Amino acid sequence: MALWGGRFSQAADQRFKQFNDSLRFDYRLAEQDITGSIAWSKALVTVNVLSNEEQQQLDVALNELLAEVRANPEQILQSDAEDIHSWVEGKLIDKVGALGKKLHTGRSRNDQVATDLKLWCKEQVAVLLDATRELQSALVATAEANQDAVMPGYTHLQRAQPVTFAHWCLAYVEMLARDESRLQDTLKRLDVSPLGCGALAGTAYEIDRQQLAGWLGFASATRNSLDTVSDRDHVLELLSDASIGMIHLSRFAEDLIFFNTGEAGFLELSDKVTSGSSLMPQKKNPDALELIRGKCGRVQGALTGMMMTLKGLPLAYNKDMQEDKEGLFDALDTWVDCLHMSVLVLDGIQVKRPRCQEAAEQGYANSTELADYLVAKGVPFREAHHIVGETVVEAIKQGVALEALSLAQLKQFSAVIEDDVYPILSLQSCLDKRNAQGGVSPQQVAFAIAEAKKRLA
Ligand code: ARG
Repeated sequence: MALWGGRFSQAADQRFKQFNDSLRFDYRLAEQDITGSIAWSKALVTVNVLSNEEQQQLDVALNELLAEVRANPEQILQSDAEDIHSWVEGKLIDKVGALGKKLHTGRSRNDQVATDLKLWCKEQVAVLLDATRELQSALVATAEANQDAVMPGYTHLQRAQPVTFAHWCLAYVEMLARDESRLQDTLKRLDVSPLGCGALAGTAYEIDRQQLAGWLGFASATRNSLDTVSDRDHVLELLSDASIGMIHLSRFAEDLIFFNTGEAGFLELSDKVTSGSSLMPQKKNPDALELIRGKCGRVQGALTGMMMTLKGLPLAYNKDMQEDKEGLFDALDTWVDCLHMSVLVLDGIQVKRPRCQEAAEQGYANSTELADYLVAKGVPFREAHHIVGETVVEAIKQGVALEALSLAQLKQFSAVIEDDVYPILSLQSCLDKRNAQGGVSPQQVAFAIAEAKKRLA
């Protein structure tokens, strides 16, 4: 039975009911709705709407329902209740009869749904924080195992300077650390209880909302009832967090897809996260990574969609706001899935060091080294840059690396070049020299790994 039949003399059109009902997705708020109801029943005792005995009875019944829901959440979908709030109330009345009808005193579905969703968001933030940290740990472990795997670093997708696979892993650790802190920041603003704001103007019962907030594990209670029932900032913030997090994961995926190509050949993905072609027997496609990259789109879509839904909405609650859930649920589920899948991909990755090294040696990634060498011998940098450019052209013409040119050949470009240039041009020297904070030197990378491990412990 609907919660609001009294004013109506005609039944709702079946097509409208289907259009309006939200149970098929908000059933996911069942546990939160029951938890919120238990707290609300306790608040009703403090204002003498319920006796202690009545509250006890509701408490037992609601806890029973909670256990049933946990055991089989899908059962909810069998019902034709309008939404999860109607479903819980209906079930409660089935269990305790008329007493169940007292629970909604002083409460509205507007403060109720805001409370349920915030409770759900808080739980999801915890899940996301775990998953984010799990991937960071996997990246740190991969970095640790690949500190000596030299490979080309790119700008404009042109080989630029040598880096290590470890340094590449640690770049993503940084992005994920920011994702983590963004979530923690969101949590601070989210952790404020809406319950006791009624439909829009506040509840007519003098409930201690701070105490009620505490019972539900919120840090405090909101300050303005109009704002409270129409605020979905936390949904926008979480969708923003998810959008940024997914952008990081899609870049991670794209890098690995490239490293895995036949053209690069820097690594091989595990059979566990790749799939074959129905036609071409030789194919091993990086589907897991392509899906991570691809799913980034729907998460950005959910954020944009919700922004458009809220834009221009008048205060306070409007049914438009029911549109907040599907996109949010999907976006956060997607984000968690992609974090887990990224861990799985890293788990079976095989870095092909000789090929990485070979690629780093080609492409004149040590040109900057030669310029710095000339600078050390007193050549102004701009001039050194030009000299090295000409030297590279000559090396390309001969089809060899810079360090393969003889001293006599090098001297044609600058007389200051001596035998001591050769060790400078080695990959190891390129790495070793970048020893300022955040650089690719083995010492800096080892330090970054140790710091990340401490933070993630
Ligand atoms: N299903 C609704 C939602 O998700 C619950 C709130 C309904 N409130 C109302 N006044 N109709 O937003």
